[in-house]
Amino acid sequence: MAPKPRPFVCSSCGAAHAKWQGRCDACGAWDTVIEERPLAAGPGKSLGALRGKTVPLLDLATEEAPPPRSETRVDELDRVLGGGLVPASAILVGGDPGIGKSTLLLQAAAAFAHSGLKVVYVSGEEASAQVRMRAQRLGLGKADVRLAAETNLRDILTTLEEARPDLAVIDSIQTMWLDTVDSAPGSVSQVRAAAHELTTFAKSRGTSVILVGHVTKEGQIAGPRVVEHMVDTVLYFEGERGHQFRILRAVKNRFGPADEIGVFEMTGRGLAEVRNPSALFLDGRGKPSPGSVVFAGIEGTRPVLCELQALVAPAPAGQARRSTVGLDSGRLAMILAVLEARCGLSFAGLDVYLNVAGGLKISEPAADLAVAAALLSAREDQALPEGTVVFGEISLSGALRPVTQMENRLKEAAKLGFRNALAPAGGRLSETSGLSVSQVSDLPAFVGEQFGAG
Ligand code: TYD
Ligand code: MG
Repeated sequence: MAPKPRPFVCSSCGAAHAKWQGRCDACGAWDTVIEERPLAAGPGKSLGALRGKTVPLLDLATEEAPPPRSETRVDELDRVLGGGLVPASAILVGGDPGIGKSTLLLQAAAAFAHSGLKVVYVSGEEASAQVRMRAQRLGLGKADVRLAAETNLRDILTTLEEARPDLAVIDSIQTMWLDTVDSAPGSVSQVRAAAHELTTFAKSRGTSVILVGHVTKEGQIAGPRVVEHMVDTVLYFEGERGHQFRILRAVKNRFGPADEIGVFEMTGRGLAEVRNPSALFLDGRGKPSPGSVVFAGIEGTRPVLCELQALVAPAPAGQARRSTVGLDSGRLAMILAVLEARCGLSFAGLDVYLNVAGGLKISEPAADLAVAAALLSAREDQALPEGTVVFGEISLSGALRPVTQMENRLKEAAKLGFRNALAPAGGRLSETSGLSVSQVSDLPAFVGEQFGAG
């Protein structure tokens, strides 16, 4: 018996289904299963003698120099883009609603226009008058940015075809709709079709497009993952609502390093760049207090110092709480387990809270030792010596492992006036002026040296 045809496909994860269903069994997403006609129906229907036209094959070494990147002179933005905007590229900027995407892109549009690009800003969410009002408030009333308030993609593409801008900002992709797709704006098939049209336009006409995408609750851009695959660069605009810091993070970049960050501050007059994030994240720290530890991290290509804060308190009877902000909770669980198994320090019956100050999110394993130090310092109610930075990865055996760019971390710490560093053994370190580095080989030794326990 021939296998049953499975013409229904989940547009989020790509799983095939025999019949339509409201929820994809494979990934659990709702309303993502759509009917798709297969391109060729198996053997016997091959292209045969009816071939297409020949496509010229090229050498890797071409004679033409690549077209120059355009810079905004906003360093925090240019760096995240990998050194400026690449012509004909497609960029997705994702973030929670209200985090400041429209503000950032209006400012970026004005900056690109100022550096000589022809820029079109299409808003599908706000009327032109609203965008103009915002521009005035940002002091960009005179910027040479062409504006449109439109959601019909057919009309937008016709307009772009005529105007031939160097950069088009589409705010947001979820509001765009194509009359050829039979579903509501914001639905997965509309978002996917609209993003496809726009990226194709970018490649064929040499216009760079920036798509704004709202992130859904699950942390994915609606039209989940689909848009991310289509574009060259994916940037996320993150930050805590209660904080004024905003971080633009490159999650994917075909033209530059991923994981690069740009740091901004939301002010009454829009976003201001923060050139020295370490100073900002450490701002307002007083005397060292128990539970507070400074971690020397690397974000992208740049060292960033930030403060980790731990609080350990007796838990009411029942389940002890483990709560983290800005750090992976799985990583915290692992460090607690290593402390218990290798150093005999139990956190059973204790609530553990761990925060990264300032709304930064840390994903480096290099933060392990700083996390352990914060936990111990809180548990023993004993602060680390003043002016100390900490970094190092902890392995399950309790050994400390060297991490990347140790020298850069130390240099940044010395620059900001720190005097001691606790670092893993192994990996050669040259003298950093003004900084005394003590290298530790394993966690029990670290606990013994710093807290006289273990
Ligand atoms: P917005 O760019 O509209 O967010 P998004 O496009 O991501 O939904 O930003 C909205 C928030 O930013 C709003 O709560 C007000 C704040 N904001 C300022 O604090 N200062 C400013 O100059 C501007 C324009 C906005
Ligand atoms: Mg907006």
